[in-house]
Amino acid sequence: MIVLGFESSCDETGVALVDASGTGVPRLLSHALHSQIAMHQAYGGVVPELASRDHIRRVLPLTEQVLADAGRSLKDVDVVAFTRGPGLSGALLVGAGAACSLAAALGKPVVGVHHLEGHLLSPFLSADPPEFAFVALLVSGGHTQLMRVDRVGSYELLGETIDDAAGEAFDKSAKLLGLPYPGGPHLARLAQGGDAQAFKLPRPLLHSGDLDFSFSGLKTAVLTQAKKLGAVISEKDKADLAASTQAAIVEVLVKKSMQALDQTGLTRLVVAGGVGANMLLREQLNAACSRRGIRVHYPELHLCTDNGAMIALAAGMRLQAGMEAPNTAYLFDVKPRWPLGMLGA
Ligand code: KG4
Ligand code: ZN
Repeated sequence: MIVLGFESSCDETGVALVDASGTGVPRLLSHALHSQIAMHQAYGGVVPELASRDHIRRVLPLTEQVLADAGRSLKDVDVVAFTRGPGLSGALLVGAGAACSLAAALGKPVVGVHHLEGHLLSPFLSADPPEFAFVALLVSGGHTQLMRVDRVGSYELLGETIDDAAGEAFDKSAKLLGLPYPGGPHLARLAQGGDAQAFKLPRPLLHSGDLDFSFSGLKTAVLTQAKKLGAVISEKDKADLAASTQAAIVEVLVKKSMQALDQTGLTRLVVAGGVGANMLLREQLNAACSRRGIRVHYPELHLCTDNGAMIALAAGMRLQAGMEAPNTAYLFDVKPRWPLGMLGA
């Protein structure tokens, strides 16, 4: 079973081809990505209308590219998957429209995938895939969640952010330091030369006892520090503030992940979403997990941020698990707001 997948929920057009034949973990045949970051950078964030228009331009050329790279043609495609939500509605509609019209033309079914389920399952495409059950730390630009995952489709929310997501905390702090959008990777790079002890920043909800997060206070604390440093901040202060910010975010994510493992008694941790590419987070999770005998799994670095591979993979795994009925109604009803816990609904 060959699945063609489209991702278009935000500022990346991703297309991929996955082989989900049999019952084994689906295999990635090829994938291609076009990032719109350069286009949105001038505006300091994603402009939804520009995002939709760019997805329209990219989706078919990328499809031709992945088919060529895999040595396949459209007639080899058995299912077309697309991101149904959550995300920007116009952007989602482009992927859904392209997937449904292509599938209708081919006489093949479509599967609408939950973007976060894609992120969650993305480590299954790595050289060291996890086994169920596990705790998942999902850290993207819009979400920060801890989940108990027993099998495909079974996602129990253990805790989440009550305000900003971890990626947002990275991005907003980076903006305050004058770094380009999206700031996470830029802030992480700047932090490499900084002293993480230089500024005392809050670790919100660190000792709350539950598995919820809060990052908006951290952003305010970074703003206060930046203001204290004055209009022209030295390169050293900038690097120190970046390092201190990163350390605060990472400490909370690691502590709560360990707490979730203790609470559930599970011995595997899966990390997914764009912030999962952060090296300090990986180092500190690896250290904390190895102290406790916990196995930790990550997506391949290039599959941490949005991509089509995770969408084709999630569709393939749902079909293998018998959780999707082949859909040939081609109703591209996207869900811009769609809690993962409502997947079955
Ligand atoms: O999962 P993703 O690509 O998109 C969403 O679904 O939101 O995540 C994007 C987020 C952005 O906030 C970006 O700054 C952050 O992931 N990010 C990072 C790193 N790479 C991406 N944050 C910290 N360190 C990184 N290396
Ligand atoms: Zn994402």
